[in-house]
Amino acid sequence: MATTMAAIDSLKRELAADLAALYPLSSARCATRGAALLDQTSHAVRWNAPFMLTVARCEGAAIFELGGARLVDYWQGHFANVLGHNPVEVRAALQATLADGRGLQSGMLHEVEHEFAELLTQRTGTETLRFTTSGALATFYSVLLARAFTRRQRVLKIAGGWHGSQPFGLKGVSARDGSFDHLESEGLPGTTDGDVELCTYNDVEALEHAFAQRGDRFACVILEPWLGAGGGIGATSAFLRAARELSERHGALLLCDEIIAGFRFRAGDVTSLYGVRPDLLILGKVIGGGMPVAAVAGRRDVMQLASRDSKRVKFEGGTYSAHELSLVAGLTMVSHLVANEVAIYGELARRGAALRSGLEEIARDLAVPAWISGWPNDAVAGSSICHIRFGRERGGRPECPEQMVGAGAAHPLVDDDLLRAALLIEGVNVHNGLGAASVAHGDAEVAATLAGYRQVLQRFRASGLFNR
Ligand SMILES: Cc1ncc(COP(=O)(O)O)c(C=O)c1O
Repeated sequence: MATTMAAIDSLKRELAADLAALYPLSSARCATRGAALLDQTSHAVRWNAPFMLTVARCEGAAIFELGGARLVDYWQGHFANVLGHNPVEVRAALQATLADGRGLQSGMLHEVEHEFAELLTQRTGTETLRFTTSGALATFYSVLLARAFTRRQRVLKIAGGWHGSQPFGLKGVSARDGSFDHLESEGLPGTTDGDVELCTYNDVEALEHAFAQRGDRFACVILEPWLGAGGGIGATSAFLRAARELSERHGALLLCDEIIAGFRFRAGDVTSLYGVRPDLLILGKVIGGGMPVAAVAGRRDVMQLASRDSKRVKFEGGTYSAHELSLVAGLTMVSHLVANEVAIYGELARRGAALRSGLEEIARDLAVPAWISGWPNDAVAGSSICHIRFGRERGGRPECPEQMVGAGAAHPLVDDDLLRAALLIEGVNVHNGLGAASVAHGDAEVAATLAGYRQVLQRFRASGLFNR
C-alpha cells in the first residue's frame, strides 16, 4: 500500500503539472481569484482538483477553455443538454422573444406558460402541473403534497438517490465506509432522520420487506426510474412495478423523480415505458432547454392540495417561477424533441451504446475492474447514459449503488476527481466517470473519447493503481 500511496502522489503531481501546462489561464485564474465567491463555485460538484477549468464558450459537444482549447463534454450542463450546448433552435427563440419586447418579465400571466403546461402534461400522461425553478424545490413540494394527501410522515427513499438539496432528500445520498445510512447535512429539522427511510435500488425483496413492516406509515416512495448521481442505473421492470403496486396497496404515493430521465429517453417521461403511472412525476433539466425550469405533474386530486381553493400545501411563491424567457427555452426544446423524436432518440441511443461498449472493451483489454452503467433494459430500448466507476476487484454492469460503493467494493484511489483530472489532459470533460451523450456527439468525438480513456487507464496501470 505504501508503494501505491507514493505512486498516486507522484501521479497526482504529474497530472497537476500536465494540466497547468495545457490550461495555463484556468490554472492562473484559480490561483489568483479572491475569496468573494465561496470555494470559487456555486455548486460543489463543479469543483475539481487541482483547479477548475474556466470555460470561455460552449457549443454542441464541446466546451472551450479560456485559452481556446476544445474539450469534448459529457457533463453537458448537469445532463440537461440532450442537443448539446447552446442549440441554435433555442438561441433563436430566445433572441426573437427579446427582440419582441418579451421575456424578462415575471409576475404576470403569459401564454407560453399555458402552452408549455399543455404540451408537458400531454407528453407525460399527467393531469395537471405546476412550474417551479429547481429540481430540489420540485421534489420538496412533491413530498409535502404526499405527506399532506396521505396524512402520513414517512418517506421511503433509495439509498444513493439524489433529489436535490432539500430536507427529505438529504439522507442516504453518499456512501461513507460503504454505508448510506446517515444524514448528509447539519441543520436539518430534528425529525428528518426518523422521517426518511432507505431502501436498496432494484431490490424487490427489500421493498416488500419495508412495506410489510411499515407500509401503513409511508406517505410516499420517492425514486428515480433511472438513477442519476447514484450510478446511472436503470430501474428493472420488476422493481418499478413493485414500487407502484406496493405503494398503491398500502395507501402511499409513488413519486417518480425524472429530473434527469424526463425527455432523455423519449420525448416524454421514462416511467410510462415501464407501464407504470406515478402519482406525481417530477421534471427538470431537459425541459428547461438550458434555463432554470422544473415542474411537478400528476394526479389532480393530489396537486389540488396546492390550489387556491385548498391551500393545504404551500407549493407557491417563486419570484421566477414560470419565468417567460425560461419557458420559451423549455417550450422550444420540448417541441423540437417531439417533432424529431425518432431521429433524436435513435441517435442518442447509438452514441450511448458506442461509448458503453467501447469502454467495456478497453476495461477488458487492460484487465481493469470497471462498473459501467446506463445499459438499456427490457422496458427502455436505448440510452445515452454512460457512467463508469472503478472497483477494487470486481466490475460489471451494476444494478444498485451498493455494488459499486459497498464496503471494500470501490477502488480506494481511482475516484471521479482523479479520472476527471486525467481525462481533461486528453481533452475530455466527464462526470460520474463519463456522463451522457448528446446528439451533438459525433463519431469523431466518440472515437477521441475512447482513445483518451484508453490512454488514461494505461497511465493509471503504469502507475501501479490496478495492481492486485
Ligand atoms: C434526480 C435529480 N433530482 C433532483 C435534482 C435536483 O435538481 P436541482 O439541482 O435543479 O435542484 C437533481 C439534480 O441533479 C437530480 O439529478
